[in-house]
Amino acid sequence: MGTIILGTGSTLPRRTMSNVDLESIVETSDEWIRTRTGIENRRIGGVGEKTYQLAASAAKKALEMAAVDPKDIDMLVVGTVSSHMLMPSCGCYVQNEIGAAKAFAYDINAACCGFLYGLDIGDRRIRTDRDAKILVIGAETLSSRVNWQDRNTCILFGDGAGAAVLGHSEDPSRRILGTNHCSDGGLWELLYMHQSPSQNPDLLVEDNPGVHIVMEGREVFKHAVKAMEDAITGLFKRTGKTIEDVDLVIPHQANIRILNNLVERLGIDREKVVLNVMNYGNTSAASIPIALDETNRSGRLKTGDTVLFCSFGGGLTWGATLLTW
Ligand code: UT7
Repeated sequence: MGTIILGTGSTLPRRTMSNVDLESIVETSDEWIRTRTGIENRRIGGVGEKTYQLAASAAKKALEMAAVDPKDIDMLVVGTVSSHMLMPSCGCYVQNEIGAAKAFAYDINAACCGFLYGLDIGDRRIRTDRDAKILVIGAETLSSRVNWQDRNTCILFGDGAGAAVLGHSEDPSRRILGTNHCSDGGLWELLYMHQSPSQNPDLLVEDNPGVHIVMEGREVFKHAVKAMEDAITGLFKRTGKTIEDVDLVIPHQANIRILNNLVERLGIDREKVVLNVMNYGNTSAASIPIALDETNRSGRLKTGDTVLFCSFGGGLTWGATLLTW
């Protein structure tokens, strides 16, 4: 008895950019990208595929699966760091696009953890209002936020959106079992993105290289593995579960080597780990809901399965969520 996911949806841009395509943009190779990251392709947004448009399309699919009318949505939350505007929020754009007139809408800025933080907020709201229907979305067009001259970052990211409709179930075996989320603002310099320059000269930020992702890849890698391991271990303590209880792991898709490390440290059965990083690269807040939707639609998820999500991103932010499907 508790919060469950009633429906999922995802939308990817039409255009695929392969590693070979990137070879003509920066000094890199298909071989380097595949062996260091596991990525082979990523999707790049085009006309009609702004962040809110991908998000609205994913949301419509999730609502259809859940058989929930957009007008019945009470709250709409979008995890994103790449909305086409700073204000209004991506959430308000999506609300307008799908006709969720009753909802209040806003964005969460938690980088790759945006969707998991959104699930946490949605779960807590449903616990205080069992009739509430909530849309949680992760949506990004990071192709608009990378420096296409920086081979350290531009090869990693991709665009897309995923959505989930949350509601309450009376079934005692189905619910969000727990979350364990953390942040460490002291490590912000490892992964960040500036704003456009201040209009107030007194508030100008020094060393602003422009509105694109800057990352210390190797350091982020180390923190990612350890932080997700700690988040998952802490979550197991909190929920009384163990790795053996988990049927499916849907991790943030950043780098296959990060996930291999995590699998080894926690002794996870590889068969249980959902991977699509090779197809889409790192889509930040969108990566978990896209992978969730693909898994759901493929029939791999069964009612009663215990599902583990884990993520890591700029902030630094990280966390894990456990639920019974
Ligand atoms: O969503 C969460 C946030 N992000 C992440 O989780 C990313 C975490 N970090 C990573 O995934 C990895 O650190 C990267 C994939 C970004 C980089 O892999 P790495 O094995 O840590 O490589 P590195 O940064 O240590 O660079 C190794 C070499 C360097 O050359 P030298 O100094 O050894 O001569 C780089 O200049 O590889 C070079 N390099 C490249 N070569 C070809 C860096 N990027 C590229 C590239 N193509 N695209």
